[in-house]
Amino acid sequence: MSHLVNEKARILTNENVGPRLHLMVIESPIIAKSIQPGQFVHVKFPDLEAHILRRPFSVYGHNEKSGTIDILYQEVGSVTRLMPSMQSGEIELIGPIGNTWSTDCTRALLVGGGVGAAPLFMLAETLKHAGTPFDVILGAQTKDALVARDRYKALMEREPCCATDDGSYGSPGFCTSLVEERLSQGCIEDGAPYDFLAVCGPEPLMRIVADMGAKAGVRTQVSMEKRMACGIGACLSCVVDTVDGKKRSCIDGPIFEANKVVW
Ligand SMILES: Cc1cc2nc3c(=O)[nH]c(=O)nc-3n(C[C@H](O)[C@H](O)[C@H](O)COP(=O)(O)OP(=O)(O)OC[C@H]3O[C@@H](n4cnc5c(N)ncnc54)[C@H](O)[C@@H]3O)c2cc1C
Ligand code: FES
Repeated sequence: MSHLVNEKARILTNENVGPRLHLMVIESPIIAKSIQPGQFVHVKFPDLEAHILRRPFSVYGHNEKSGTIDILYQEVGSVTRLMPSMQSGEIELIGPIGNTWSTDCTRALLVGGGVGAAPLFMLAETLKHAGTPFDVILGAQTKDALVARDRYKALMEREPCCATDDGSYGSPGFCTSLVEERLSQGCIEDGAPYDFLAVCGPEPLMRIVADMGAKAGVRTQVSMEKRMACGIGACLSCVVDTVDGKKRSCIDGPIFEANKVVW
């Protein structure tokens, strides 16, 4: 388990990469060294004192040499709508928080809906470095919103499987049809069945994919991005109902075995 720190960090760049989607690069050398796939940071923006609560964001990428982490974020509310105006300046990060994706598998299928593509990228990097075959399915509303596609393509040296709700790129409709197809056909590299499914995205998507995974007998993990206040296990605002009782998404998760979640 990596050591939790409260790190004074600095925004280096913050660019618009798609509809209401932005990529923020943050200088945060301590967290950049220790962050693991699936973990997140809890961010305080001193310029936004009116918003007392920190906001949680998964780490999309990290570079130990430059001491930076990347956050891919979507404008949804009061803080994320103000974030694009912060082109530089100091922020505070608590991190790395949470558990990590499993890498104990021989064939993996990664499914990211919308900005859910972000917390899966470091898992993809780890699998690639370990030589474990994996496939990636990305879903978004439109082609412009498939902002993680290029980064996955560069890592995998081939296209991830894509679906868009409006049919402007890849398979038309929800990405769940691609999940069904892959689960029946097996890994693209050799047709062998997957033994691990990792999913992040809107809860309805995760529930459907979890169900598909269960029917196919494939171990499935989901990242439960509940609303969070403290982010360190103290306030119980992020509770997930599981077959083992109530769990805190921030420190017992955010990654959960899908068959343990009471959906
Ligand atoms: C572990 C974790 C990792 C996350 N990683 C990312 C990421 O990589 N990129 C990203 O864009 N977002 C991520 N989120 C979601 C992000 O934290 C919220 O979008 C953000 O806190 C919203 O702040 P706001 O002030 O703009 O919205 P608010 O004004 O607080 O809320 C606006 C609307 O967004 C909804 N909302 C707020 N938080 C969440 C949430 N966690 N899940 C679903 N709906 C929510 C509210 O219900 C409300 O309808 C993550 C959340 C968690 C818990
Ligand atoms: S956010 Fe406070 S316990 Fe999880």
